[in-house]
Amino acid sequence: MELLLDLLCLCLLCLTGKILCDENEQKYIIVKEGTDVVLPCSLSTKEDIESKVFDWRKVAQKDDGLKEVFMYEKGFHYNNGRPGQSEEFKGRVSHFEDELKHGNASIIIRNTKEADSGDYTCHFPRLHQMFHLKLVVVAPEPDINIIDATDDGVLLQCEVRGAAPKPRVEWQDRDGNKLPAEDPQVSERGDRYHITLQTTVTKTSCCRCVVTQEETNRRTHAEIYVAIIVKMSIWTKILGAVLGILAFVLGVAVAAFLLRRMYIKNK
Ligand SMILES: *[C@@H]1O[C@H](CO)[C@@H](O)[C@H](O)[C@H]1NC(C)=O
Repeated sequence: MELLLDLLCLCLLCLTGKILCDENEQKYIIVKEGTDVVLPCSLSTKEDIESKVFDWRKVAQKDDGLKEVFMYEKGFHYNNGRPGQSEEFKGRVSHFEDELKHGNASIIIRNTKEADSGDYTCHFPRLHQMFHLKLVVVAPEPDINIIDATDDGVLLQCEVRGAAPKPRVEWQDRDGNKLPAEDPQVSERGDRYHITLQTTVTKTSCCRCVVTQEETNRRTHAEIYVAIIVKMSIWTKILGAVLGILAFVLGVAVAAFLLRRMYIKNK
């Protein structure tokens, strides 16, 4: 009975813990750089907010001040003449007009950049309500392709598309040592970089292509395992030679044996 009570208490604790935790939990949104993202914010009352005020801000970070992302006041906002929006969000943020009557103040940020990562607040000043969420914009992962496989090794290509700012790309072995590679090929598209980097792998190993954004110190990587099968032809030749010699020795032995028997018989 006591045990049962203990269990019950424990369960209640778990439950309340979970609820508390969920309430305090900051919403996380993770998107790939260059895509669009909807930052959700809705009043639980679902009341019409067409004639209300809400303000989206990006919280100040260590070397970056507070940013005005999107402000709406009774139909007057940053996309129809309202001044005050932070430069980096101009022309990239919209709200959802049709959703306002359901208490939905979500916004969409188009063409996300790594610099958009951070904490955002959605504030209804007159309603004394504030919502928090965290946006993480991650650099796109590189792609690895096998371009060629010859007796000299396997030619691998790492490709990074649409990265900004310009990242450092390098090939590493499984221990993180830099592998020799050709010079990277870099092309610029708008303010984004497209980089390819080739390397030739000559022994069985695990290689990764590591993309580093120096400014933000963010890294992504892709891996490939290259198994190089030692040149078949040589081994086939050696095997052939060994078998040939064995066959020859065996043949000689058999012949000697037969000759000896014939010799004994004739005697
Ligand atoms: C608010 O509107 C956005 C955009 O249409 C939508 O994605 C989201 O699900 C809506 N939120 C709610 C709670 O309905």
